[in-house]
Amino acid sequence: MSQSNGAAMHAIDEKLQELRELRGKARLGGGEERIEQQHKKGKYTARERVVRLLDEGSFEEFDMFVTPRTDGAGFQGDGVVTGHGTVNGRPVVIFSQDFTVMGGSLGEMVAKKICKVMDFAIKMGVPVVGLNDSGGARIQEGVLSLAGYGEIFQRNVMASGVVPQISAILGPCAGGAVYSPALTDFTIMTEGISYMFVTGPKVVKTVTQEDVTSDELGGPDIHATRSGVTHFVTDTEDEAFTLIRRLLSFLPQSNMEEPPLKPCHDPVNRVEDWLNELVPANPSLPYDIKRLIEAVVDHGDFLEVRAYWAPNLVVGFGRFNGRVAGIVANQPCVLAGVLDNKASRKGAAFIRFCNAFNIPIVTFVDVPGFMPGTVQEYEGIIMNGAKLIFAYAECTVPKVTVITRKAYGGAYIVMSSKHLRGDINYAWPTAEIAVMGPRAAVEILYGRELAKLKGAELEAFLKEREQDYRESFANPYRAARTGFIEDVIEPRNTRFRIIRALESLAGKRESNPPRKIGLVPL
Ligand code: HXC
Repeated sequence: MSQSNGAAMHAIDEKLQELRELRGKARLGGGEERIEQQHKKGKYTARERVVRLLDEGSFEEFDMFVTPRTDGAGFQGDGVVTGHGTVNGRPVVIFSQDFTVMGGSLGEMVAKKICKVMDFAIKMGVPVVGLNDSGGARIQEGVLSLAGYGEIFQRNVMASGVVPQISAILGPCAGGAVYSPALTDFTIMTEGISYMFVTGPKVVKTVTQEDVTSDELGGPDIHATRSGVTHFVTDTEDEAFTLIRRLLSFLPQSNMEEPPLKPCHDPVNRVEDWLNELVPANPSLPYDIKRLIEAVVDHGDFLEVRAYWAPNLVVGFGRFNGRVAGIVANQPCVLAGVLDNKASRKGAAFIRFCNAFNIPIVTFVDVPGFMPGTVQEYEGIIMNGAKLIFAYAECTVPKVTVITRKAYGGAYIVMSSKHLRGDINYAWPTAEIAVMGPRAAVEILYGRELAKLKGAELEAFLKEREQDYRESFANPYRAARTGFIEDVIEPRNTRFRIIRALESLAGKRESNPPRKIGLVPL
């Protein structure tokens, strides 16, 4: 080896050494001490999370050498790890905030890193997964941090309906760190480590004098049951990653694609005799609609979304002969399946997501109506119910409907009826499609007669008239006679009837009149 060759080798060794050192520094984020603190809180580091979520060895990192504006020497890579990789072999873009670097707070360069991968996702048509663990806008960077959030929000909105966006909340997230997830499609929180609030308990105390714990203010239970801000709650971070992988398996990569087909080993012609007995003989008795959903989807595999918020309406993803569908179903077990403010908002949001991403919708109907009363009216049931009508009416993906029992009044119309462009509408023989339930109808139609009756006579009169009403109105055949439902089907055949319906609709092309946007009643 010549002397000059030896010197060149030496120089490259030094350069490689420098590269490795810089990479090593980035991998340490905020340093060993803060990594230890992160672990002590029962949390993985930003990098550990990326590795656990993505397919093994698939992560390609961007911008490891970026440094914060405020502390260039200290934190190599700044407070976020970004790049792309694959989940079940399909590309995704990912960012994972690093709480060990200034509490994962968002400064100018953190925002630039996140915006870069979001732009990449929009350009390439791949989902964005954000792992959030951040104290919000970085105080030391002032308006540059606020500008950074603005840039991210803008991209969240531009990506909306173009690529799926999923946010896991894996730490105490405040300010912009919750508004960005709120602009995405799905939010996941993990028990014991996740909090979401506009601002934390200390600031709340100063502003409103309210004493509140982090859990009470924005823990997973609050957001899963009361605010509806989170779509899923998991017990551990690992479960959150498994859930994200499962959720992605139902979604297309972008609005330009169909959801992925999965080979189905569940017999298409599977008949479930017991479904003929699912609806109780007594129309006021409840039954669990999830038993029906799990009986008809492939392998009983149903991913419920927002399970604990407005459980009177069940929404989620399943497959029929390998084809993904969004399922919307009234739940007779909870508040008799009534449509209230929350259920209307929940249904509308889910339907709009499915519509944006070419996911057909299967609707199971058993609904006594919209919930009346002052509580509901004061919370705006008129506007919220209208959101659900809007969502179904605007949506152009295939829509298959099965009315199992009650379909009364406005709730009949809204739940994917023929009149809102339901494509294939079925009813079970137990269906009651009418303006209202028998008791309410009899009380209105026979008010004068009822006023004259008392006791046993009154009861007998009511019973007789209710029976008459049921026979003439509260059945599926009036609707079938008009063509408002395609067929009255045996409950046990529901699986293959839905599969055939969806297969016949696979090539559906429907569009709305050209316009800039539809004005959803907000
Ligand atoms: C800079 C921050 C920070 C921030 C936390 N840190 N938040 N640094 N800017 N916003 C730093 C801390 O100084 C600390 O640094 C480290 O992160 C860990 O923070 P701790 O407070 O020790 O941790 P913890 O007790 O777990 O509390 C976490 C927290 C709390 C709940 C997130 O830090 C907090 O309340 N932060 C402020 C939240 C907030 O109000 N953010 C601004 C929102 S406004 P060291 O060096 O000790 O490790 C906003 C604007 C956009 O985001 C709004 C859009 C609508």
